[in-house]
Amino acid sequence: MLKIHIIKNFFEKMDRYRMAVDFLIILLMISTVFIFWFGFTTIKNLNITNTELGEKISLLENKMASTTVEIQENIAQTETSLAQALEEEARSREQQLSGVQDKVGTISGTVTDLEKLSNTDPELLQKYSKVFFLNEHFAPAKLVEIPNEYKYYESRVYQLHDKVWPYLNSMLNSAKASGIDLYVYSAYRSFNTQEALKGQYTVIYGAGTANQFSADQGYSEHQLGTTVDLITTGIGGTLAGFDDTETYNWLLQNAHKFGFTLSYPKNNGYYIYEPWHWRFVGVQLATDLKNQNKNFYDMNQRDIDEYLVNIFD
Ligand code: DAL
Ligand code: ZN
Repeated sequence: MLKIHIIKNFFEKMDRYRMAVDFLIILLMISTVFIFWFGFTTIKNLNITNTELGEKISLLENKMASTTVEIQENIAQTETSLAQALEEEARSREQQLSGVQDKVGTISGTVTDLEKLSNTDPELLQKYSKVFFLNEHFAPAKLVEIPNEYKYYESRVYQLHDKVWPYLNSMLNSAKASGIDLYVYSAYRSFNTQEALKGQYTVIYGAGTANQFSADQGYSEHQLGTTVDLITTGIGGTLAGFDDTETYNWLLQNAHKFGFTLSYPKNNGYYIYEPWHWRFVGVQLATDLKNQNKNFYDMNQRDIDEYLVNIFD
């Protein structure tokens, strides 16, 4: 009986074990299915997440790229604006500086001109020849003697305004270098000398004729010390016939370069035609007169006066 009981117990236990094992197997199977399902779902989700992530990363990359381009464009625009602003500032400063320099230049130019004018005898460009009068006390501030080699009569003393002499000297040397015989026949004449000369001419030719070629004292350009009578060899020591010479032709072509102009050309309103009588008026005025085919006495005194400041330039 006991044996039967033991066996019965044994089988009962065995049944319980089998059930437990069956239960465990079922549980294992369910777990496996669940694990497979979970794994599959997770992997699937993971794949979806990766794709989305890829898209998001790609979107982000695109956005970053466009943002980078925008930033680069902004930087470039800012750089351009900055460069333009700097350039404009520099230009404005340059204009201001140039304006200041112009003003300083004008002021210093004006000061220089005033200084030059204050040192220049205003009589030098006045019209004489019956128009203006120089009194008996007028004489150039400084006179120099013309060296013998340039004089027609070596025994005579010829004087000239000291600032005009270098111009005449250059003209005489230039003529010589060109093979032209050119000599000084008369130069500075004082008020008293002119008075004596006019007196002699009046006695010889009579007042009417003398007035046609000789100025009264005080009206002669020779008193300025800037005027010369020029002559050449081969015409017998007289001024008549000078206009037919090569020397006169040379003067017509070249005298302006040295500041000299013919005071009394043909048909002037003051005296007879005097091809020998040349007055220094400065290179600028003499050149303008030559280029414009004008006579000194045809100009307004106001226009002539503008050349005074540069007469010795
Ligand atoms: N021969 C000129 C006019 C003079 O005497 O000044
Ligand atoms: Zn003369």
